[in-house]
Parts: sequence; structure tokens; C-alpha cells
Amino acid sequence: MDGFEHSTEQPTTSATDVYNQPFVIGVAGGAASGKKTVCDMIVQQLHDQRVVLVNQASFYNNLTDEELARVQDYNFDHPDAFDTEELLRVMDHLKHGEAVDIPKYDFKSYKSDALRRVNPSDVIILEGILVFHDPRVRELMNMKIFVDTDADVRLARRIRRDTSEKDRDIGTVLDQYSKFVKPAFDDFILPTKKYADIIIPRGGDNHVAVDLIVQHIRTKLGQHDLCKIYPNLYVIQSTFQI
Ligand code: ADP
Ligand code: C5P
Repeated sequence: MDGFEHSTEQPTTSATDVYNQPFVIGVAGGAASGKKTVCDMIVQQLHDQRVVLVNQASFYNNLTDEELARVQDYNFDHPDAFDTEELLRVMDHLKHGEAVDIPKYDFKSYKSDALRRVNPSDVIILEGILVFHDPRVRELMNMKIFVDTDADVRLARRIRRDTSEKDRDIGTVLDQYSKFVKPAFDDFILPTKKYADIIIPRGGDNHVAVDLIVQHIRTKLGQHDLCKIYPNLYVIQSTFQI
């Protein structure tokens, strides 16, 4: 005995399964850190590929009338604010190449009042403050990116965004920040930074990081394409750890 536990379980996915599935990228980070900006830059550079962006905000739970009446007391930054089971269901469809309807979340009305049809894609980017929190969601990801932006910059951007785009007054934005946003960042978001493969300082200002990420995705997509044609390459890849 060497003291290690040896699993006797056989893999449940074959080489062909693995390489027929889309490449999934998770992008986490604090609110207003620049996640969406970084995702848009990646999508723009991968214009010749089939890429879809999925926002964790689409999976906010619907509020009850009571919660809606006292919305200033609702914690939108806690993991329980999201319907993660629905997110997993949607991701499962997309991973298996099936089109799926995703709710469109409206930050002003606090409701999802429409759906958008998302077609199967070669790359799925899943973006949101807490996409690294649930291990089942993390396991779907082939690449994990954490957008790391200073707290003062995030707060300044949030004030500007929420007052102009969400029609909120500055007092409400600051109260929400100190009551929920900052504590949740410290307790739930920052601790997930350790799961990232890549940490991008300064978000969308960091063109070098975005270029390198896009280059890596292209390399991986090339390997996917090769392995779709020659499934046995998977064995060679595993052996040499490419
Ligand atoms: P997140 O998706 O993390 O909430 P966004 O990418 O939506 O962040 O950015 C939050 C706000 O900050 C938006 O209003 C956006 O226009 C602005 N913003 C993002 N990146 C930059 C940047 N590099 N310089 C200036 N403003 C930025
Ligand atoms: O796009 P971003 O990652 O910034 O979205 C997450 C933020 O949106 C959270 O910090 C949460 O407080 C905020 N939010 C909000 N109102 C909602 C839903 C989320 O202010 N109705």
C-alpha cells in the first residue's frame, strides 16, 4: 500500500464525448470589476467562432411581493440569490449542443420578463460574481478567469453605472454597497479567486491578458477540432499532457 486512495471508477465520458462538447470559460470577479467588458472583448476577438455569453444574473431568483416591497433589504450578492439548479440545467443543454431559452434579467424591475433563445456554440462564456462558488458549476469549466479590480474602482464604476443605467440614487447605491456588496465580496467572491487559472488585473484595460487568453482558446479549439476528426489523439494528448 502506498497510502493513497486509488479509484477503480471508470471514466463516464469517452474521448469523443469530451471533444464534442463546447469549451466553457468561467469569468468571475466583484461587481463592476469589468467582467462583462472582458467577455465582450473575448467575444469580439473570437468573431469567427460560435461563441455564446451566459450571465449568471439571468438566474436571479424571482422576488416575492414581500421581498419586492422591501427590496433595499434583499441581498443580491449572496449565493442563495441565484437559482443555480436552473443555471446547471441550462448549461447541461448547451454542453450537449442543444438550444435553450435563457431568462433576460431586468435590473430595474428586479424581474426576468423575457427569454432569449441561445443556440449551440463552440465556446460558452459564463460570467458572474459567483460563478466559481458552486463546485458543480466550476466543474463545467475548461478555463477559469478572475477579473481583479481594486475595490475603490469597482465602487466608483458601480455608482456611475447604477445611477445612470438603473435609475438609483447615490444614497441607495452606497447603502447597498456597505450592507451587502462589500461583505459578500469578502465572504463569498474573493475566496473563489483561488480557483482561477488566470487572474486579470485591471479588467478590460489589460489588453495583453485578453490577447493571451484568446490565443489559448484558439489553441484549445484547434485541439478540439483535431480530436473530433481523430478521437484517438485524445489518448496521445493524455499521455503527453499537452
Ligand atoms: P461587471 O460585468 O464586472 O459588472 P462591467 O464590465 O459591466 O463590469 O463594467 C462595469 C462598469 O464599469 C460599466 O459601466 C463599464 O462601462 C465600466 N467599465 C468597465 N471597464 C472599464 C474601464 N476599463 N474603464 C472605464 N470604465 C470601465
Ligand atoms: O453585473 P454585475 O456582476 O455587477 O452584477 C452583480 C451585481 O448586481 C451585484 O453586486 C448585485 O448587488 C447587483 N444587483 C442589483 N440589483 C438587482 C440584481 C443585482 O443591484 N436587481
